[in-house]
Amino acid sequence: MTKLPVLLDVDTGIDDALALMLALRSPRLDVRAITCVGGNHRVGQVVENTLKVLDVVDAPAIPVAAGMERALVERPPAPLLLHGRDGMADLGLPASPRLPVAVHAVELMRQTLSQATEPVHLIALAPLTNVAVFLRMYPALWGRIAGLTIMGGTYAAPGNTSPMAEFNIRCDPEAAAMVLESGLPIRLYPLDPFRQLRFTRPEFERFVHAPDPAARQAGRIFRFSADFFGVDHALLGDAGAVASLIDPAGATVERLPITVELAGVATRGQTVVDRRLPAQRAHPEEFWQTSLHEIDVVTAVDEARYRRLFAQAVGAPWLVV
Ligand code: RIB
Ligand code: CA
Repeated sequence: MTKLPVLLDVDTGIDDALALMLALRSPRLDVRAITCVGGNHRVGQVVENTLKVLDVVDAPAIPVAAGMERALVERPPAPLLLHGRDGMADLGLPASPRLPVAVHAVELMRQTLSQATEPVHLIALAPLTNVAVFLRMYPALWGRIAGLTIMGGTYAAPGNTSPMAEFNIRCDPEAAAMVLESGLPIRLYPLDPFRQLRFTRPEFERFVHAPDPAARQAGRIFRFSADFFGVDHALLGDAGAVASLIDPAGATVERLPITVELAGVATRGQTVVDRRLPAQRAHPEEFWQTSLHEIDVVTAVDEARYRRLFAQAVGAPWLVV
């Protein structure tokens, strides 16, 4: 099976850590580079957390670069305690001996795409500031992008960071608009499937005691998250977006027009997906003009299939029946 070349843009964060474990262990993906951006935590901490994940899964040397600390327009949000004080569930993992590369994330994106012998898949699991700046700086390299898989926004679900907006999009709505309305091939993984994919407490407690360190740390992350919210399950979060690239047959996808709301007071950062019937959309003179930008939106996932995919990747296939 040929591997897909990928570059991940992350704000590690507990669910970015789970996504990185899946991507780095998947026989389907060839992780060429990882770029970091401010979001769940400050970008310097995101780099530290990302390097620790590479150690946990015993990854080969992969270039990691720090990118934008803040959004194009707004100041950065305070770090989110739902990821722990350190952004990694306060696991107490040792500092990594690995070092980030000495170039900016946008430069690492340029190098990675320029040097690849085939187009590269971008997986964006964070505010889209790095990706937006790259697209503006290097339009000549758009042809080197095989596609973008983006965790962000909502299809029909309520927001998380505001009633209508999801965190990655709300952190930098202008960057999100630049990327989602670019016309590039995009698969959006919104909060709708994001909230669907989960493990139960008995399952993740078995992860904690598995032989593979990746399973153990994943189990501890799940446990931290479930305890933080006071529930008996934990979400795979960003890992589901990675799963939708590894195994697209496990995702239900609709091709729909999308616009990012920039001017709304209550709705700034909302992904406005036009779910009206095609016949309604065909008469823009009668109805609100729909967006001209159609993307693939993941509306649901095969939960059992993606749970198994993750459990296999972290070395605990027997844990998920
Ligand atoms: O809204 C969820 C998204 O925001 C996830 O990517 C999480 O890691 C945060 O970045
Ligand atoms: Ca993230």
